[in-house]
Amino acid sequence: MRIVFASGNRGKFREMKAQLEPIGVELLFGGDMEGPHEIEETGETYADNALIKARAWAEATGLPALADDSGLEAEALGGLPGVHSARIVEGSDADRTRWLLGELADKEDRRGRFACAIAVVMPGGREPLVVTRYCPGTIIREPRGESGFGYDPVFIPDGFDKTFAELGDETKNKISHRALAVKGIAEMLRAVIE
Ligand code: IMP
Repeated sequence: MRIVFASGNRGKFREMKAQLEPIGVELLFGGDMEGPHEIEETGETYADNALIKARAWAEATGLPALADDSGLEAEALGGLPGVHSARIVEGSDADRTRWLLGELADKEDRRGRFACAIAVVMPGGREPLVVTRYCPGTIIREPRGESGFGYDPVFIPDGFDKTFAELGDETKNKISHRALAVKGIAEMLRAVIE
C-alpha cells in the first residue's frame, strides 16, 4: 500500500516511514511532490486538523494520504497552547517557549502533556482512520538540552529526569506522543491491509 505523507517535514517523515515499512506501507514524501503545501489548520482539535490536511492531499494526489497534528497542553493554562502550539506567538520556537514559561511563571501546577493526532484518508469514500495519543509530563522553569525542536527543552516526560531535548531522538522516538500515535495508526492500517 502506498500512502502520501501530507507534510514537508523530513524529520517526521523518516520517523513514520521507519514504523510503517515493516507492515507493508510505502510512505511517499509530500515535500517532494506537488500538493496543497499551505493548508490553513482551522480545526478545533488535533484530529480535525490532521483530517483537513489528509483530505486535501488525498484529493490532490488521488492516493491515500497520512497527516499529523500535534501540540503541547499546559494544565495550568487550561490546555494552552494546545492546537495553537505552532503559532501561539509569532517568531521562533525559542520565542514560543519563552511565552510559555512567562505564562507559567507564577503557577505551581507544572503538569502538561504533548498530544499527537494522525489521520489517514483513502480516496473513494472509505471511513478515515484517526488516532490521538498523549505523552504526559512536567513543564520545567528553564530550558535544558540541545536536541529536538519546539518545546522539547522545557518538557520532562513522566518516568524520566531529563527533558526531551536532553534525552535525544532515539529515546524520544520510543516514548513520544508522535511515536505512540504512529504505533496506533500502524495497527489500524495493518487491519485494513490484511
Ligand atoms: P505541527 O504538528 O507540526 O503543527 O506542530 C505543532 C507545534 O507543536 C510545533 O510547532 C511545536 O511547537 C509543538 N510540538 C509538537 N510536537 C512537539 C515535540 O515533539 N516537541 C516539541 N514541540 C512539539
